[in-house]
Amino acid sequence: MSQNFDVVVIGAGPGGYVAAIRAAQLGFKVACIDEWENAAGGPAPGGTCTNVGCIPSKALLQSSEHFEQAGHHFADHGIGIKGLSMDVAQMIARKDAVVKQNNDGILYLFKKNKVSFFHGRGSFLSRTDGLFELSVTGKSNETLQTRHVIVATGSSARPLPGIEFDEVNVLSNDGALRVGATPKRLGVIGSGVIGLEMGSVWRRLGAEVTVLEGLPTFLGAVDQQIAKEAHKAFVKQGLKIELGVKVGEIKNTKKTVSIAYTDAKGGAQTLTVDKLIVSIGRVPNTAGLNAEAVDLKLDERGAIEVDANCRTNVAGVWAVGDVVRGPMLAHKAEEEGVAVAERIAGQHGHVDLDLVPWVIYTSPEIAWVGKNEQQLKEQGIAFKAGTFPFLANGRARALGDTTGMVKMLADATTDEILGVHVVGPMASELIAEACVAMAFKASSEDIARICHAHPSLSESTKEAALAVDKRTLNF
Ligand code: FAD
Ligand code: NAI
Repeated sequence: MSQNFDVVVIGAGPGGYVAAIRAAQLGFKVACIDEWENAAGGPAPGGTCTNVGCIPSKALLQSSEHFEQAGHHFADHGIGIKGLSMDVAQMIARKDAVVKQNNDGILYLFKKNKVSFFHGRGSFLSRTDGLFELSVTGKSNETLQTRHVIVATGSSARPLPGIEFDEVNVLSNDGALRVGATPKRLGVIGSGVIGLEMGSVWRRLGAEVTVLEGLPTFLGAVDQQIAKEAHKAFVKQGLKIELGVKVGEIKNTKKTVSIAYTDAKGGAQTLTVDKLIVSIGRVPNTAGLNAEAVDLKLDERGAIEVDANCRTNVAGVWAVGDVVRGPMLAHKAEEEGVAVAERIAGQHGHVDLDLVPWVIYTSPEIAWVGKNEQQLKEQGIAFKAGTFPFLANGRARALGDTTGMVKMLADATTDEILGVHVVGPMASELIAEACVAMAFKASSEDIARICHAHPSLSESTKEAALAVDKRTLNF
């Protein structure tokens, strides 16, 4: 006997669980299938984000930042600490507890919104007259029928060809989040978001961290003025970053990992480390979906092909989040999940991919929304730029963290804000104002004329807006 639903969501990451809740709010009978298991074999909804992504990485970033502050910066405030030590096992246990709270929170939200949860793998079985049959196999074993399917199966770490993740010495994001003791030497391949965040965690705890990056430019997708400022800060902290390398053979002896590579000058080098994180991007998860059963089309990257509204080539099947084009970010997945649920209900949900903010949670944090200076130049768009350094911000001085700046880019003719880029304290929070302003098509003058609380870091955004018109007050 199969169970009937209006909407079935495959995957309970931020794309899937939010889509399921929104669809239930709109009056549909909804099921959500997810196969992630916790250590005890129970369900662990929340996907990559909750289990091995956003949440655990931010928990470790917080713990390691406390350690760094206590060890290097508390003395400035007159706080003396003797015998400072780090219990990595406790840090990992705390992180696991934070993850579990989030898993349980999602199960509670499913109950509250009357979403039926099935713990197992979801696959397409058939499509007949617009009615889909799906199987769930695993802890739950069921057949479900529905007219609307939302695929939100996420992504997995991309391995380097020829070297497998053993999650003991060669680590994906998963293993990198549960290293049992601080490695003496840590190698990272890829100076992208994961490489910088996880490299920072273990560097703060005492590891000697070397990051090998294939591209000659550091954070090429980031405004280069901001990226240069961040690079300077990371190098000063002790992260060793080598750009423009070509990684060759990697040998995992189970005790150490050696990486042969050619440096930017063409010299043959070998890096030997105790642990290696490979963070060179992620691949969409479609294996096991049995997409062929309904002729669901994938693109050349293996992502599910969708239009601007997350419609696939099969009427009634939608796809959101990391498994489709666009930035692989939790909030982008969530917005798409909501928009699709609303479209199924005949509404007009829409996500503006040009206004999805990015944050890298290093110290200093890096955050941006909209276009950067390189893109505006490439696209021949005339712009005005205003920057304001945290060094001139009273709150940043009081915090003891004056690294970085806010940079605002506005259209040379209309003054509409085209991009905001921040490197510095609480950039992750400051960027929200820029998102709101840009969604309402604000001009830099709008921000410059709005009263911002004093003393606050957000005054730097106002000052960057004033700087666009060359009239900063505090710099
Ligand atoms: P996922 O979160 O990957 O969820 C997909 C779910 O579907 C999983 O639970 C999976 O088990 C399940 N699934 C897959 N196939 C099936 C199947 N056939 N049947 C049943 N279940 C299935 N993004 C941010 O915005 N901010 C951050 O700070 C951030 N930090 C990150 C840190 C790390 C280390 C990593 C790896 C990623 C981070 N991300 C961050 C990215 C973020 O985690 C992803 O963009 C987000 O999780 C994508 O959500 P999703 O719902 O598309 O997929
Ligand atoms: P990434 O795309 O951010 O960075 C990968 C880096 O590896 C790039 O700089 C690339 O040039 C480099 N690279 C690729 N192949 C290489 C090779 N063979 N040798 C050397 N360098 C190579 O990917 P990452 O860090 O794996 O993260 C995946 C995604 O997860 C991110 O793009 C982001 O979408 C998401 N994420 C988001 C976070 C956030 O929002 N704070 C945190 C962590 C991950």
